[in-house]
Amino acid sequence: MSEQTPGGFFSEVREADGSLDATARVVDPATSDDERVVEAALRPRRLSEFPGQPRVRQQLGLVLEAARRRGSPPDHVLLSGPPGLGKTTLAMIVAAELERPLRVTSGPAIQHAGDLAAVLSSLDEGEVLFLDEIHRMSRSAEEMLYLAMEDFRVDVVVGKGPGATAIPLELPPFTVVGATTRAGLLPAPLRDRFGFTGHLDFYDVADLVTILHRSAGLLGVEADADGVHEIAGRSRGTPRIANRLLRRVRDWAQVHGEGRVDQHAAREALALFDVDQAGLDRLDRAVLEALCRRFGGGPVGLSTLAVAVGEESDTVETVAEPYLVREGYILRTPRGRAATAAAWRHLGLPVPAHQAFQGALPIEDEGPGRFGT
Ligand SMILES: Nc1ncnc2c1ncn2[C@@H]1O[C@H](COP(=O)(O)OP(=O)(O)OP(=O)(O)O)[C@@H](O)[C@H]1O
Ligand SMILES: [Mg+2]
Repeated sequence: MSEQTPGGFFSEVREADGSLDATARVVDPATSDDERVVEAALRPRRLSEFPGQPRVRQQLGLVLEAARRRGSPPDHVLLSGPPGLGKTTLAMIVAAELERPLRVTSGPAIQHAGDLAAVLSSLDEGEVLFLDEIHRMSRSAEEMLYLAMEDFRVDVVVGKGPGATAIPLELPPFTVVGATTRAGLLPAPLRDRFGFTGHLDFYDVADLVTILHRSAGLLGVEADADGVHEIAGRSRGTPRIANRLLRRVRDWAQVHGEGRVDQHAAREALALFDVDQAGLDRLDRAVLEALCRRFGGGPVGLSTLAVAVGEESDTVETVAEPYLVREGYILRTPRGRAATAAAWRHLGLPVPAHQAFQGALPIEDEGPGRFGT
């Protein structure tokens, strides 16, 4: 269920599989359980059904196929990228492609090494362990995880104080799939233990169109090409948002239209839900407004900016910022966040002379999917 965080419209919503839905606020914080069930039903089950992310898909496909031929579990897999791009979906696909069971847990659920030991010691051979939000695990659990990933062993501590002894426990080979929106927060020793890292990037419109047609089919909604294109272009490059907007447009079409997702229904519904022409939502615009109107275009520190929009720094940094940077509205500079000319124009404000020189070149801080680190 959703919870309102103090002073903000961001809500923490967990999906049926326990993963965090940090994009929930984009349309309606009170995402119902029903909607989450629908979302789960829209997940592609196999790599061949997964549109977009061609690089990661190819690389992961190779890693999995090789493991299958060898008849041994593949290397550990780390998936990183902004919320809603398919990390949880891919983790499930890894298990499905290997035809192995999937065990799901998350960093915040593992606050003590003992929590992790309990999970690890109950794994079967070849099982896939999905560790969502792996950057939020406790330090002691992280250390235990290094050992388990590399040597398939955990030291279980029995007793307390001077009499405590560590009993090594052998584990059957298994595969960890870690997911994180903040790869930069993972300590290097942990990152190094993943044999394959896939970095998910925002989807292009063509891939979102494919995803939306598929989702409309699964939902039994009639959708025409213009309607789907309109939604795809305003989904912040994010499948979760695309699917959610599709359901809102469907709602609008059922109440005010002829039940068909077309361009008119899409435009009306998206206007109603505060998604603008460029696909920016309320939080995105709040960030741009604060940056331009209150801080003269910056540069301004992340925490100051977050306070100005009434959000947690983490939310601004992981949910709003990646897309705004990628689309060239804001820049990350050593002195803080700065607006580009595109941001001023988007708000319909004159571009100040001192900022007109700035191009819209985003600073990419993470590359595409890659092996190792
Ligand atoms: N390539 C894709 N094709 C079709 N649907 C997708 C794809 N990627 C994601 N989705 C849809 O978007 C929703 C969100 O995906 P998912 O839960 O895998 O994202 P995530 O990266 O784990 O996000 P978070 O960081 O919030 O946990 C899924 O329910 C799924 O329906
Ligand atoms: Mg997830």
